[in-house]
Amino acid sequence: MKPSLRTCFAAVTITISALAHAAPAVQQKADPWWKHAVIYEIYPRSFQDSNGDGVGDINGIASRLDYLHDLGIDAIWITPMYPSPGIDYGYDISDYTAIDPEYGSMADFDRLVAEAKKRNIRVIMDYVINHTSDQHPWFKESRSSRTNPKRDWYIWRDGKAPGQPPSNWQSWFGHSAWQYDEKTKQYYYHYFYVQQPDLNWRNPQVHVAMEDVLRFWMNKGVAGFRIDAVSRLYEDPGLHDDPYAPGTNVYGDRNIIHKYTDNYPQVNDVLKELRRVVDKYPGDPVLVTEADEPNITELTKLYGNGDEVQLPMDFQIADLNKLSAPGFRKLFNEVENNTAHGQPEYFFSNHDQPRQWDRYGDGVHNDQIAKLMATLLLTTRGTPQMYYGEELGMRTTDPARVEDVHDPIGKLGWPKEKGRDGERTPMQWTGSKDAGFTTAQKPWLPIPPSVSSYNVESERKDPNSIFNAYKRLLSLRKTEPALRDGSYRAIDGDDPNIFAFLRQSGSSRVVVALNMSSEPHSIALHLSGAQHAEVLYASPAQKQQSVPVQTLSLEPFGVVIAKLP
Ligand code: NOJ
Repeated sequence: MKPSLRTCFAAVTITISALAHAAPAVQQKADPWWKHAVIYEIYPRSFQDSNGDGVGDINGIASRLDYLHDLGIDAIWITPMYPSPGIDYGYDISDYTAIDPEYGSMADFDRLVAEAKKRNIRVIMDYVINHTSDQHPWFKESRSSRTNPKRDWYIWRDGKAPGQPPSNWQSWFGHSAWQYDEKTKQYYYHYFYVQQPDLNWRNPQVHVAMEDVLRFWMNKGVAGFRIDAVSRLYEDPGLHDDPYAPGTNVYGDRNIIHKYTDNYPQVNDVLKELRRVVDKYPGDPVLVTEADEPNITELTKLYGNGDEVQLPMDFQIADLNKLSAPGFRKLFNEVENNTAHGQPEYFFSNHDQPRQWDRYGDGVHNDQIAKLMATLLLTTRGTPQMYYGEELGMRTTDPARVEDVHDPIGKLGWPKEKGRDGERTPMQWTGSKDAGFTTAQKPWLPIPPSVSSYNVESERKDPNSIFNAYKRLLSLRKTEPALRDGSYRAIDGDDPNIFAFLRQSGSSRVVVALNMSSEPHSIALHLSGAQHAEVLYASPAQKQQSVPVQTLSLEPFGVVIAKLP
């Protein structure tokens, strides 16, 4: 192809300016956007209802983009909005390249992407790759006969003996992972609900079909994908029985160790393929993945050689579930030093686990702890991910009666397992009865009682609110070079109560100290050339504008962020 006139001129300009400034031969590539981004997870059913049916929707999200921009959010990850029978509230997809009418239309989606772009907010889609809905046309075909061309797109096997499933594998959501299908007298495999049959990733046609899905959404201008349940893509072809662990689970099944259904090395080949597909698009597309891995070695594998997922979510840190300076120090140090040199991705709440206000709160200092957790999330070096409403201190509000439960896990496991409705309640925009979420009489999940004081409208006005803590921290992260892209080093010398670290970018040095105990504590930080540091943020708020670094005192669950001279 001939170079256009425009490219010729551009080339000349570069040559002249290169000569004039004697620029280095190799230009440093700017960091990809996701290295400095803050990602915000939106559960679309619960963010904002725009049409009064009690369920959140795409136009609702679009109407709140200014809020997100003002808060300091760079990207939104929206959990599935594709057509779905809704058994697993969207994670059972029946069409990967359409929008469920419950959430709006494709035109609404396009508008959302365009409006988000105007505000420098990128859109990340959920990519549910392990399974489809049993209502997906692929599965309908597959189950129609043993000889259907799509039969092998799913995992069909004969039972061990009449009435006995092919193996003892269990579904993550309780009971056998095999479902007998009368029509063709075979079992199909489902890691999750019966209505979520697993795709057969050993079939190359599945790869082609699922990669087309990526292209479809990339062409619509999305910035990347959050890949669901990726460690579960492959199972043992020999169908060996999993070993048992002592005891039973909340569903009354014998406890099982998922030895033959998780973390097969072929997963990494798939991730490389997916990365190659998105890398063909401009704009540094990002792959994020659920990575509920047992240890740092397994988590590190998901980065590949920089050619798989850029941001595997660190579940080890999210799930520590207690305020422990030694615990966090160890885990942050581990991921910081991961052998793949991958960018860490941190979060504490999502749509599958009780909210952090409850999980990390001690029942007395929960609001203070919420601010401490916000500081931890937003001052460390990785890419932070928030969950809608965490910036308000929204809490888990489980249903009181089994009749009110929506999530099938809660129906099956009640009362030991109440399901995930509690962390999916509507966003609390105002203190009114409908939380400013809907005009419907009855939202799909009830508005929690905490709405009267934990909501955007009132917290905005309160300088000490959790919301204003997040706002300040998000803004500091953008404006302080050390917090934006500085290195990270723990500097607390193994203190049992205080987790402290230094962020440094060039001459800009910022100290972060977090007291993870219910008692006041001091720490001596030995930092060359520094006696005092200028307070950028403290919680509880304090009057002094500078703190002595050699005897830094912190209140119970207190935090200080201070800039060294
Ligand atoms: C993980 C998702 O986060 C969860 O909500 C869903 O139920 C399972 N994957 C199955 O798709």
